[in-house]
Amino acid sequence: MAKAKSLYICSACGYESAKWYGCCPGCGEWNMMNEEILSQSTSARASSIRAASAQKLNEIQNDVSVRYSTGMNELDRVLGGGIVKGSLVLLSGDPGIGKSTLLLQICKTLNDKLNILYISGEESAHQIKLRADRLGVNNSRLLIMCETDVLAITEYIRQNKPDLVFVDSVQTMDYADVNSSPGSVTQVRESANVFMRAAKSLGIPIVLVGHVNKDGNIAGPKVLEHIVDAVLYFEGNRNFSYRILRAVKNRYGSTNEIGVFEMRDRGLAEVENPSLMLISGKPKNASGSCIACTIEGSRPIMAEVQALVTPTGFGNPRRMCTGFDYNRAAMILAVLEKKAGYFFGNMDTYINIVGGLKIDEPATDLSVAMALVSSLKDTVVADDTLAFGEIGLAGEIRGVNNCEQRVKEAIRLGFSRCIIPRHNLKNLSSDISGDTEIIGVRNIREAFEALVK
Ligand code: TYD
Ligand code: MG
Repeated sequence: MAKAKSLYICSACGYESAKWYGCCPGCGEWNMMNEEILSQSTSARASSIRAASAQKLNEIQNDVSVRYSTGMNELDRVLGGGIVKGSLVLLSGDPGIGKSTLLLQICKTLNDKLNILYISGEESAHQIKLRADRLGVNNSRLLIMCETDVLAITEYIRQNKPDLVFVDSVQTMDYADVNSSPGSVTQVRESANVFMRAAKSLGIPIVLVGHVNKDGNIAGPKVLEHIVDAVLYFEGNRNFSYRILRAVKNRYGSTNEIGVFEMRDRGLAEVENPSLMLISGKPKNASGSCIACTIEGSRPIMAEVQALVTPTGFGNPRRMCTGFDYNRAAMILAVLEKKAGYFFGNMDTYINIVGGLKIDEPATDLSVAMALVSSLKDTVVADDTLAFGEIGLAGEIRGVNNCEQRVKEAIRLGFSRCIIPRHNLKNLSSDISGDTEIIGVRNIREAFEALVK
């Protein structure tokens, strides 16, 4: 009998190799290569080769329109309007971020005619009941199953045909045909494949919960992201109560949508107006602060940029950024020195985006520059002033995308002055009005002049 072949697979990045390495050649992680036994080759197939079939595109029924609304607007938007029938959705995020809470909570807001099957490989039925009581979930059509055997689960789904299935989590699932332990790359991949086939063949949407590893990637393989139809990341900072749900892949909708939630003592609450929440704590008449407007998905979100500029104690000045790109901040400081005459060479600078938000959009440059200069000169940027625009190396303020949306949000929130790139000014539609003064600027000098007008 031929010897069973084995393969070494890195459990961090999925790199495959015929021999063992201490350090994975794919990602450089140590002690991540695990041996997995390959099942015997099935290439010697019997003579029964069948021909595949094809269909005309315009004869295929369009059932993407069949979506289950989750009853939570924030989640529906991220999903592109609801959960599509027969789709496989991966919900991932750090431990304790609220994945299980979100799934259990949807059971409350979903249409109460739907039969939901909640499979947990992590918690006992008793624990789920406790959590459900706390969240106020009292759905008579919700079935709880504590099971990890993938084939037994899919067989149950095939026989009972629930309308929606939640699997918490894919890392605990055990597929008997694979010899490695649950959570290994092959197990996760094969289990996901089995769920994929079940979802597609039965037309039942399945939501898989996936853990992330210490780098923030979905634990196990990147391949999982290729298998599923949509990948949602639940992000957030442990120290802050709000959570951002982000679609990084969506076959049935836009990928850059976000949903904002707040973790309360009775579960997750939707935050319909995140801008207001993020800027509500802004100190009045304080220097070193400026409101920025960034686009997340299709929504403009306001955030407060704070800067602190203090004399350097020892030798090299410190440059610290929280929530903003370090290199970008260094560039803005250099442009401010060279093109606007503000000197930071003997100053420590600290930049912070309030609320634990991470902004990587160049449109925030102008507000960062304003906060820095405001702190350096100890002058106040008026509380009702908003500034956005990308700063170029020549000190010019370059146009940004979705300018109109940002200005409209500023008007809605009652800002009285909006400093925007001159380039964008002419493209604004004429019906934007209100009491907001909109000032177009060409370079950073003009932007600072506009502040004191
Ligand atoms: P959970 O959904 O178990 O996280 P995950 O499944 O992503 O690992 O979330 C648990 C966290 O949420 C835990 O730290 C406690 C907190 N939490 C609340 O603050 N309020 C609540 O009502 C619930 C159910 C959880
Ligand atoms: Mg959980």
